[in-house]
Amino acid sequence: MNRQETETLLKQHGQEHLLRFFDALSENEQQTLLRQINAIDFSLLDVLRSDHTPGAQRGVFAPLGALETDEIEARRNEFEAIGLEALKSHKVAAVLLAGGQGTRLGYNQPKGMFNVGETRELYIFQCLINNLTDVVNRVHTWIPLCIMTSDKNHDQTVAFFREKAYFGYNPDYVFFFEQQMAPSTDFEGHILLEEKGKISLSPNGNGGWFVSLSASGVLEKLKAMGVEWLTCFAVDNVLQRINDPAFIGAVISSGCDCGGKVVRKATPDERVGVLCLEDGRPSIVEYYEMTDDMIRLRDEKGNLLYNFGVILNYMFRLDRLEAIRDQKLPIHVVEKKIPCLDPEGNPVSPDKPNGYKFELLVLDMIHMMDSCLAYEVVREKEFAPIKNLHGIDSVDSARELLKKNGVTL
Ligand code: UTP
Repeated sequence: MNRQETETLLKQHGQEHLLRFFDALSENEQQTLLRQINAIDFSLLDVLRSDHTPGAQRGVFAPLGALETDEIEARRNEFEAIGLEALKSHKVAAVLLAGGQGTRLGYNQPKGMFNVGETRELYIFQCLINNLTDVVNRVHTWIPLCIMTSDKNHDQTVAFFREKAYFGYNPDYVFFFEQQMAPSTDFEGHILLEEKGKISLSPNGNGGWFVSLSASGVLEKLKAMGVEWLTCFAVDNVLQRINDPAFIGAVISSGCDCGGKVVRKATPDERVGVLCLEDGRPSIVEYYEMTDDMIRLRDEKGNLLYNFGVILNYMFRLDRLEAIRDQKLPIHVVEKKIPCLDPEGNPVSPDKPNGYKFELLVLDMIHMMDSCLAYEVVREKEFAPIKNLHGIDSVDSARELLKKNGVTL
């Protein structure tokens, strides 16, 4: 599209300001900006016209029980046998969601490159590879590992894995793919400029992973290898077990479309999303969407009715993911601090949120499935998320937990 056509398009969407500095740009910059504008999915902004307060359009919630640790222990051999068999025949691949910007950590490189070691180097990516390698060593075959990056961190991530020789993993079984980006806006819905010739774009949330995996061509490779299930998990939980045979075997033998690892809530009002049913389908209710009753009510054994929080570690049947690929996920509008240009073209580094980012979330994919196995894991053994430098869910708390689990730092 040329300038005139682009102007018409922008007028339709009330975004004419994006060409405000057009005449001051070089020809190359002008072309780049026009390309960026024409790639924008403006329908994303429609969400601003509806009620986008969190939890605005939710259905009727009901509790969903979990496969609890005592039953898992009693049936461990049975589950592991099924899981090991599936892994040996390459039926299960792993997808690492590493496209986020990790702003809370305040680290200006991909989060996985953060060194949690104290007396030696131990990077977040390395912890995850080590955990997956434990399983590789049991099944004596490599497990396909897909790593989702974004435009903001792709090159650095790939270079880091190369530099570190994939931490001993077989590069033939590692597949990088990039997620999509979405524009950011101010509170009035005007798309922000990062530079005079560049729109402010950010990764579109972790929920776009399957669409991006398909578009990248990696999915076809996995299918050719015989993959029938995909696990997906966050970059920042350094303790989580990845593709552990018992989890895989339990999900497969449950007959469910998907499974999610959960931990028992530490306190009734813990700020965690809880796996439950919504209008009869599996779903995740956020802590701020729960009524007082949902937070406090207990069953006859004294356990909370909504007792199991998700840790962003899931497993999906591939054919079910393909069946929902074209369905639209809800768009979450998040208030963020977004560096941008002011109307005069001066750079602004806000110290409080100044606009919206638009995100798709993997947890919404659970609601598109017919059934989900909630699989309980022990918090102290599998949940050490690194969101902040200090305090709750931090580098400090993760280091403590790693040490408690016998990892030398
Ligand atoms: P978070 O919700 O912690 O988001 O991501 P974040 O962007 O990494 O961190 P903050 O909120 O800015 O501090 C949970 C997981 O989802 C991935 C992250 O990399 C992390 O593994 N993610 C998040 C993506 O892969 N893409 C995204 O667009 C967002």
